Amino acid sequence: MDRAGSPGPPRPQDRVLGPRRNRDADWNAWPVADYLAENYRRLHPCDVGVIRHHAAVYRTIAPGALCRTLELGAGPNLYPLMQAGAASLRVDALEPSAANVRYLRQQLTDGPDDSWRPFYTLCRSLDPALPESCTEALRRVRVVPGVAEDLTDGTYALASMNFVAESVTEDFAEFTVLCDAFVRAVRPGGRLVASFMERMPSYRIGTGPVWPACPVDGAALRAVFAPRTTGLRIERLAKDRTLPEYGDTGVLLLTALRRDGPTA
Ligand SMILES: C[S@@+](CC[C@H](N)C(=O)[O-])C[C@H]1O[C@@H](n2cnc3c(N)ncnc32)[C@H](O)[C@@H]1O
Repeated sequence: MDRAGSPGPPRPQDRVLGPRRNRDADWNAWPVADYLAENYRRLHPCDVGVIRHHAAVYRTIAPGALCRTLELGAGPNLYPLMQAGAASLRVDALEPSAANVRYLRQQLTDGPDDSWRPFYTLCRSLDPALPESCTEALRRVRVVPGVAEDLTDGTYALASMNFVAESVTEDFAEFTVLCDAFVRAVRPGGRLVASFMERMPSYRIGTGPVWPACPVDGAALRAVFAPRTTGLRIERLAKDRTLPEYGDTGVLLLTALRRDGPTA
C-alpha cells in the first residue's frame, strides 16, 4: 500500500468474520493527526460544497432561535460546529473517541488551530450572522463523550451529522439504526442536515488499520430517510480528487425534517 487512504489487502489485525460492526473498531485509537492532515488541514473543494450546503440551512434560522443542537460523531472536524454558532445557543458535540474528545477540548480551550481560519472565513462569508471570531462561534459548543445509542428521543431542535453513519460500520442494518438515532434525536418537525461519503468501502487513514464503512448511494439514503422524514432533499458533490483515494464516488448532502408521529 503506497497511497494513504487506499484500503489494500486486509492485515491479520483487521480480520473479523462477517461485516465489521461499529463495536469491532477501536474508536479511541482514531488517528486524529493523520485524519486532519488528509482531510482538514486545508480547504478542499468538497468542504466548500458541504459548507455551502449547510450554510443555506443555517441562514434561514434566526440567530439564537435554536436552544440546543447536536453534532453527531463530531470527530476532530470543527467546521460543522462553527456553522451552528449563530443559530444555536448550545451545540452538543457527541463523540465516542477519547482521541477526538481530547482534540476537541484542546481546540475549545486553547483556540482553534490556524488551519481552521479559512474554513471560518468561508462559513462567515456565507452566514454573516456568525460572530466575528471563530473562538466566539465555538463558545457554544459542549463536548459530550458518547455514542449515537445514548441519544434521548426528541432532545434537539436540529441535528447535524457529517461522514458518520456510513463511515463507522460495514453492516447496512446498523447504518440504518444509526440514521434512525440521528432522526430521533430531534423533536418532530426538527431539522436534519447531513453529509455522507458516496459508495465508500472500508478505508484506511494514513497507514493505520482499516475502518469499517458501508457503501451507500442516493437511493439507499432515500430508502432510510423517506419513511422517517418530510421535505427530504438529497444533493450530490462530485468526487474530490484532492483527497486521498478513499474509494468513494462523491459526497451526498441531505436536509430533511423529522416526521411527526412514528418515524418508520
Ligand atoms: C469518519 S469520522 C467523521 C468525523 C467528523 N464528523 C467529520 O466530519 O470529519 C467518524 C466519526 O464517528 C465517530 N463514531 C464512531 N462510532 C460512533 C457511534 N456509534 N456514535 C457516534 N459517533 C461514532 C468516530 O469516533 C468518528 O469521530
